Amino acid sequence: MQNVFCWFVLFYYNKLITMVAQSTKYDHLFSNLIPNSIDGIKIFGMDDDYIKPQIYDDVTNLENRIWSELYQNLELLLNQYASREYLLGLKTLPIPNNMFPNFKEISPLIENATGWTLLPVAGFLDEELFFDINKKRQFPVTDIIRRSPRFDEKYSEMEIQNKKGYTPEPDIFHDVQAHVPFLMNADYAEFIWKVGVLGDEIIKDKRMLGPDLISHNLKRLQNFAWWTYEYGLVKNNGTSDRFRRVPNDIDYEIYGAGIISSLDEVNNVVDCAKERSPNSKFLPYDIEEMALTCFDYTHIQDRYYIVESMDGLYDSFKKNKELFFFEGQ
Ligand SMILES: [Fe+2]
Repeated sequence: MQNVFCWFVLFYYNKLITMVAQSTKYDHLFSNLIPNSIDGIKIFGMDDDYIKPQIYDDVTNLENRIWSELYQNLELLLNQYASREYLLGLKTLPIPNNMFPNFKEISPLIENATGWTLLPVAGFLDEELFFDINKKRQFPVTDIIRRSPRFDEKYSEMEIQNKKGYTPEPDIFHDVQAHVPFLMNADYAEFIWKVGVLGDEIIKDKRMLGPDLISHNLKRLQNFAWWTYEYGLVKNNGTSDRFRRVPNDIDYEIYGAGIISSLDEVNNVVDCAKERSPNSKFLPYDIEEMALTCFDYTHIQDRYYIVESMDGLYDSFKKNKELFFFEGQ
């Protein structure tokens, strides 16, 4: 199963590829620092033709089959282990298990629920463009899917550094199957909007911290995003089984979209909960530790941070914003 990186996390990383390379002044503050790169991927900015409407009639049978296989391999597992917010969002959206979702059908429903809309885009967005979109509560989505001819064609002339089955950019399965259902939840939707707005504040640098600290603080926010809404778990308080076909038999629920769109990652979480995963561990939520802990996007995660509740996550972020405006020492 290919792992899939995230729009939100990666757009920071694009900036950091060069910024971190130029400045490692504060890297000593991070643990688990892992050198990596995604050079070679086109990044779209404000002046580029970045909007790419989904042409639903162009979706091929093969692409629908790939979607079906990915979805159906995960369907029962997610019903048992995904978080309440995910399951409720999924129930109310037209995300079929046997064919590509149609953005035009989904977007108005999200807009009605939380004010977010889907914005079909051509590829990676630079941080300025991403934040501009985010401020309008627009969620960028692509309509290509891993392992398809359209996907391979897009990268036919590119040398992607990582060759271990990693998908170099998020695909429709990760964006729509994993992230979009959460956008139906008002509290969650507000949370990710605030994370994006904070990123915008870091880049705008009203505090005049300078490029080294901007890149360092963006990396902190990137790490936080990774350990929460990409790979986060929340305590199972036993109240969501009524939404499941099979009761959740572990002490955790999955809310990280990077886990939700990966069969291997879901299985690893379950194995870890049942003490059968030799390489991964659960750690208690600690926002400072998470912001200062880097990650390896090329492998199954070696740790998952557990938050007590989703409200606890939102509250923690709200109270610890200064963590992302480190001023140096
Ligand atoms: Fe993501």
